[in-house]
Amino acid sequence: MALAAPVGTALAAPPADHVPPGQAKKDTLRWVAPNGFHIGTAVAGGGHHESQPYPDPFTSDTQYREVLAAEFSSVSPENQMKWEYIHPERDRYNFATADAIVEFAEANRQVVRGHTLLWHSQNPAWLEQGDFTPDELRTILREHITTVVGRYAGRIQQWDVANEIFDESGELRTTDNIWIRELGPGIIADAFRWAHQADPNAELFFNDYGVEGVNAKSDAYYALVEQLLADGVPVHGFSAQAHLSTRYGFPGDLEANLRRFADLGLETAITELDVRMDLPADGKPTAAQLEQQADYYQQALTACLNVEGCDSFTIWGFTDKYSWVPVFFEGEGAATVMWDDFTRKPV
Ligand code: XIL
Repeated sequence: MALAAPVGTALAAPPADHVPPGQAKKDTLRWVAPNGFHIGTAVAGGGHHESQPYPDPFTSDTQYREVLAAEFSSVSPENQMKWEYIHPERDRYNFATADAIVEFAEANRQVVRGHTLLWHSQNPAWLEQGDFTPDELRTILREHITTVVGRYAGRIQQWDVANEIFDESGELRTTDNIWIRELGPGIIADAFRWAHQADPNAELFFNDYGVEGVNAKSDAYYALVEQLLADGVPVHGFSAQAHLSTRYGFPGDLEANLRRFADLGLETAITELDVRMDLPADGKPTAAQLEQQADYYQQALTACLNVEGCDSFTIWGFTDKYSWVPVFFEGEGAATVMWDDFTRKPV
């Protein structure tokens, strides 16, 4: 088969069974994963990438696209479905890149995790500074969810409907989340209902960081989910982002935490796994650091595999070349599973 031949235009997808040169198909992540278990990655673009000295990874980097297609069976737009990206002006949507990701996924037999619909971060200025009445805001959110979820109906496996709605102490974000602040907590149930109407087949998730273990924040989700399910709200999943650091111990109760949500009848998932570390002065992780990193990834994977209904395991980027970590955590990095040149780390 002609290897990179179809990647003539920027957005052409590599062939579905393409494997990077020198690598056997049976060695790819998607090949070794159990049947029905999706192994995913964030698709790099938007967000911090826009201030980096490289072109848009997903649309421009051929080698990146080849590894993306070969290794993964699930993809999550890293930024390209967030409000500021997909809905840049009140009366204008920018679907081009999100469309391209969904098309790429279909061409490569991948599922898509939609991310995200109700969040306090990465909202456009027109929304945050819009001075809208509560009625207007409600209409804006309903239209956005109906439009975006409806556009990809039947083509998105899981949606992160609500992202990071609780703070560390398990309190709802009533100040920095515009929707909860202006419309009250009832808007969360409405967001799930509107998403379900727009795509009855999508699995609808709560997603957050710092909820790997059993703690005040994950307890708050547990109580909220119980209530919403009792009220008949279409909530289908709970996911832990799992942005981990070797500074801290591995959250050993991850499996128990996922299982208690599974016992409520929910799907669970790991959605944004990475394991960052403090970089030595020369920027090169030590062998011991890489070993610890591999151990964390492996423990996270094992926890998910051990819990029935944890069928989606996503890493937040697969190459350090495009990782968000060095941009957001000073002095830390090397958080993904591949080096800048796409060669594999011990993990
Ligand atoms: C990050 C992206 O990786 C960056 O490109 C962007 O600049 C900021 O957001 N929790 C989430 C993700 O739910 O959307 C965030 O992604 C990382 C933390």
